[in-house]
Amino acid sequence: MRRKVIAGNWKMNMLPNETIEFIEKFSPLVKDTENEVILCVPYTDLFYALLNVQGTNIKIGAQNMHYEEKGAYTGEVSAKMLKSIGVEYVIIGHSERRQYFNETDETVNKKIKTAFENELKPIVCVGETLEEKEANKTEKIITEQVELALEGLSNEQVEKTIIAYEPIWAIGTGKTATAEDANNSIKAIRNKIAEIYGENVAEKVIIQYGGSVKSSNAKELFEMSDIDGGLVGGASLKVEEFEKIVNFNK
Ligand code: PGA
Repeated sequence: MRRKVIAGNWKMNMLPNETIEFIEKFSPLVKDTENEVILCVPYTDLFYALLNVQGTNIKIGAQNMHYEEKGAYTGEVSAKMLKSIGVEYVIIGHSERRQYFNETDETVNKKIKTAFENELKPIVCVGETLEEKEANKTEKIITEQVELALEGLSNEQVEKTIIAYEPIWAIGTGKTATAEDANNSIKAIRNKIAEIYGENVAEKVIIQYGGSVKSSNAKELFEMSDIDGGLVGGASLKVEEFEKIVNFNK
């Protein structure tokens, strides 16, 4: 049985003092969950978050990194820098980064490889636009994105990759994919992984759903056969709301 992994994506929100306060309130509420809990916080909050989750079951992730090891890349942060302070996860290829910061399937693939070389676990985002959905291209788009993202990885690395299926039209819009549609898209991704890396690998890969997940729809989504938890944006900024999402099966 695959575990459920629930990750908050704070995006460009929360100051260090807010991060500390959040973790203080949130950690006792999720301490008994069997689900994996991750907070992906802004760079400036990482160190405070890492100090404050010590002794809890909460893991910390970043929201981006550069694919080069080091060098003249003003404003960028490397995988080694993240690893050096104790970061465990990193979101790669979020649709906002693809849309506003020119990330492509190629840079996503490079970043995943660099993440693994530095022992960071990538959470890789894929998803279709509304236009693509309406043209019935969802499956084609997302399976292609997954194939290109994972190109050149070993079976072992693919097994450790977390994929977040996030339909772009559902992010921050209040519109959620139906549990059935989300499950079918995730099944299509799993089948593509099986085709390339084998059934055994595909059965182990964690594939999350993301896009307007909230406490009122988390249970229905996360109980579907192929949905292994979620990547949660807006609803992860509120302790009471995110706690309910993490504890969806309690
Ligand atoms: P949302 O964002 O939950 O606010 O829709 C999800 C995400 O972008 O990861």
